[in-house]
Amino acid sequence: MYHEVQEGDFHVNSIRLKLIITVHDQNHVETLQANLNFNSEPINSKIMIYQLNHIEKQSYIPDIVNRDYRTASVFRKYGIDFCCGAKLPLEAACNIRGIDADAVKDDLERVTQNLTVSNMLRFDKWGLGFLADYIVHIHHDYLRAILPEAMESLKSFTKGHQKKYGYLLELTDIFCSLANEMLVHIAQEEEVIFPYIKQIEHAYENRESYASLLVRTLSKPVEDMRTHEHEVIVRSLNRIRELTNNYESPANACTSHKVNLLTLEEIDNDLIQHLHLENNILFPKAIKMEQELLQHR
Ligand SMILES: [Fe+2]
Ligand SMILES: [Fe+2]
Repeated sequence: MYHEVQEGDFHVNSIRLKLIITVHDQNHVETLQANLNFNSEPINSKIMIYQLNHIEKQSYIPDIVNRDYRTASVFRKYGIDFCCGAKLPLEAACNIRGIDADAVKDDLERVTQNLTVSNMLRFDKWGLGFLADYIVHIHHDYLRAILPEAMESLKSFTKGHQKKYGYLLELTDIFCSLANEMLVHIAQEEEVIFPYIKQIEHAYENRESYASLLVRTLSKPVEDMRTHEHEVIVRSLNRIRELTNNYESPANACTSHKVNLLTLEEIDNDLIQHLHLENNILFPKAIKMEQELLQHR
């Protein structure tokens, strides 16, 4: 039993590809069949892609979390312990609490799906308004979703483990300050900076007469954000990396310890891409546009 998802012909340079993508529901296997015609000689290949995030209800909870730390947030949501004392299979733990194990399993598989953004994307070719919207929907929304939970988790872990691990107090202080500053920072970008950048782009493209007035009133906040606030973020990230030895768990660290460090590493990776888009593409291009507008006012 399967249902067909997509079928079509694609041309890449001189190569004709016929792609049929099918999904087998029962065993979670996706089949990608590609018939390639290259210089009139057909080549057939069949590639099997296994869905790696399939979770069994009989799996033990610590094993699920150790295999993918992102599942910890689902167990927290349902109030299921996943650390030191949790030695139950998923289904048994759900039955004890009267929770639908299938719903938990669905949530676990959803959070472990990998969504990747190809580095072939040419962010530098995008319009500034579109790039600003991308940053808001991909990076700002991500931070709003993860930072409160990450702060809560780290604070509660530190409370019980600070005597054993001396670095946790400073780590929690720095991370929580950074997280709270980030939440203010992204709100300011969305309320003031990004709308301004969109006005600059619009004025630039349409050669509008009031553009120079906007430039003079709002160019300084953009520069402050780019130089001062982003530098503070990078300094905090550097200290967090030092304190955690680049997010390496200490020997014999428990599952919660590993989950906290891996979550911080994920946030670090996202922030690096976020700051890159703003520092190296969005802001320099906006500043270049405003300088040109000022010259021609
Ligand atoms: Fe941002
Ligand atoms: Fe920013």
